[in-house]
Formats: sequence, C-alpha cells, structure tokens
Amino acid sequence: MTDFAKTKSMFHLPPDLVYLDGNSLGPLPKAAVARVGRTMQEEWGDMLITAWNQADWMNQPSRVGDRIGRLIGAPTGSVVMGDTLSIKVYQALASALEINDDRGIILSDSGNFPTDLYMAQGLVKSLDKGHELKLGEPEEVESLLSEDVAVLMLTEVDYRTGRLHDMKTLTAKAHELGILTIWDLAHSAGALPVDLSAADADFAVGCSYKYLNSGPGGPAFIYVAPRLADQVRPALSGWLGHEAPFAFDLDYRPGAGIERMRLGTPPILQLAALEASLDIWDRVDMNDLRARSIELSDLFIELVESSCPELELASPRDASRRGSQVSFRFEQGYAAMQALIERGVIGDFRAPDIMRFGFTPLYVDAEDVRNAAAIIAEVMLGRLWDRKAYFERSSVT
Ligand SMILES: Cc1ncc(COP(=O)(O)O)c(C=O)c1O
Repeated sequence: MTDFAKTKSMFHLPPDLVYLDGNSLGPLPKAAVARVGRTMQEEWGDMLITAWNQADWMNQPSRVGDRIGRLIGAPTGSVVMGDTLSIKVYQALASALEINDDRGIILSDSGNFPTDLYMAQGLVKSLDKGHELKLGEPEEVESLLSEDVAVLMLTEVDYRTGRLHDMKTLTAKAHELGILTIWDLAHSAGALPVDLSAADADFAVGCSYKYLNSGPGGPAFIYVAPRLADQVRPALSGWLGHEAPFAFDLDYRPGAGIERMRLGTPPILQLAALEASLDIWDRVDMNDLRARSIELSDLFIELVESSCPELELASPRDASRRGSQVSFRFEQGYAAMQALIERGVIGDFRAPDIMRFGFTPLYVDAEDVRNAAAIIAEVMLGRLWDRKAYFERSSVT
C-alpha cells in the first residue's frame, strides 16, 4: 500500500493552507531544493560544460521520460522530455497529419484546452493544404469519427469539468477508421492510471508542472507508439533530434525512435527538480492513488453539496467518469475563489463560472478536504465573497 502520510511529508506545504490546485501547479518537493542545488553547484558549477558528458545531461530527457513512462503505461524508450506542451502538441499533430496525408480533418472537442486548438489552427495555416479543424461536443466526438478524419486530438481529462474521455474505446474506434490519435495527458499524468500501450494510442503529450511537480515552466513530455516512432518525420526538426547532432551535418536526418522528437538544449535545472519529484512518485502505486483520489473527491462533493446549495456540481458525479478534480459552477465564482484563497483554501477559477479544486493524494488528505469544505461553507453561507476587492481580476485566474 502506498504510504500517503509519508509522501505528504516530502512536500513543502505552507502551514494553515489547504492546497487544492496541484492540478495547475504542483507544490515543491522538499528534496528538489537540494537536488537542484547539487546540479547547480556540483555539475554546472564544478563541471561546467563537461557536465553534458560527465553528469550525462545529454541523456537526461530520455532518462526522465522513461520514469514518466511508468506512470502512463509507456514502454522504456517511448517518452522524451522537452519544450512546452504547446510545442509538443504541434509536433505530434504535424507528424500525425503527415502520416495520414490523404485526409483533411483534425477532429477535437469544445472541451479541449485552447492552446491545443490554437496550435492546430496555426499548423493548418502554415501547411496551407486545406485541413479543417472540426470541433464537436465532448459527448458527440465518437459519432463524428469518419474516414475523412486524419487525426483525433483530445485532452483526456477536461481542464474545466474534469470529465474523462474513454481513451481505449475512442482509440479503438478511431483505428477502425484509419484515424490516428493524439492524447493530451496534462490532467491525466499523475492524476489517474493511464495505459497508453493497452489503449494502443498513437501519440500522447503532457506537462510535468501539474500533478508531476516539476515547478513552473517544467518541460513537457511526448510519447510516440514504438510502432510509429521510426516512421514519424518531426516537422520541428531541431539539432538534438538529429541522428548525429555533433556531426554538425548541413542536412537533417531524424534520430532513432523517440529521440527524434527532441528539439534543442534541454532545461537541466528543471529536469533535476522533476527527478526529485519522481523519487516520490516511485513510492506510489497508481491504483492506490486512484482509489484515494476518488475517496477524497467524493467526500468533497458530499460535504460541499450538503452545505452549499448555491454551488452546482460541474464535474461528472460518477467518479469513474472524472479525473482528479472537482468543479462547481457559481456565477460569482471568481470572487468566491478569492475569498477562499484569502482564507487559506487555494483552488482556481476558469471562466465563465467554474470554481476548480484538484485532489492530489500525494499531499492532500481527508482532513484537508474537511477543513476546505468547512471554509467553503463559511464563505458561501456568509456571502463573504461579496466584497469589492474580490471582484478585481488578476491576470492569472
Ligand atoms: C490540457 C492542456 N494542454 C496544454 C496546456 C498548455 O501547456 P503549456 O503552457 O505548457 O504549453 C495546458 C496548460 O495548462 C493544458 O491544461
């Protein structure tokens, strides 16, 4: 059994605060401070540029990718770290469209994260081959699959409501029609068990700064199914994805397998922070995590609904159809969230009216859930959110 009290003790969590926003930015693993410090002092400081070889910085993106692979059901050698998630979405989509180059439609849904759609729109424009980005409602995506569709590109867990797509079924249906799949795991990796191999997914991408706690700006990951990895041609062909970067050839030749999805110099310090977090993840069984996440989320829904009739559940009530977050609708959700944050309950707000709370068993327990629910009840019943200052919007909500 995973020892969640132990994992909680391994994070820096400010006192008197319930942190329900690890679905947006994970907290600091205590060991990351020393780990990054060591990388700075002993590697960057003492080894200088020789650390690329001596400390094996060069292979860190694949080494760390393999550790994340364990959490998402990806075999060794199929995941690599680098860049931001937006870039990885672009890369995966460009590669998939090139494989299915006789089809014109990119199918996604209205619950997808905007950057995924923006990257697709930008790519369609650059390619200028008449591709169409088609959006359905999340529930109707399956019925929109057809032989005109080149790629099905979805975020598995909806960033606003936490609704969970059925990756395995949708991928199988897509494959029956010759459609390639790209899964954005930003709200899945570290949130629930994911099995890319069992689902036979073609591409997957995700970030490391949410449930995986690499810190702000931590690098993204990309997965390409081993059966495709030597076939894809990266549209963003950087020198570190070249077969022989230090041959300094004038022409690009893709590297072997997933290595070709690398672009340029990797963020070594941020990868060091991520490694400290992955040391904690090594202690975690994903089935234990899922069971605890459901327990906490169900308890939260029960407590909030029984005391706050004004809050309307926006997430699926059925836990098997939810990721690891719970959202409520409330017209004055922004102000209410500011009132909560001031009282030590940190969640966030997504327009137009979603109050979002993430449940991350590595460092959130049932007592936190009870404390948070009590403060939410206080704020809602006393209309404590109804103060001018809480309506002033910051740039990040
Ligand atoms: C589902 C999803 N995709 C993409 C992104 C954007 O990632 P990045 O800012 O790292 O490019 C986010 C950010 O929160 C996200 O939630």
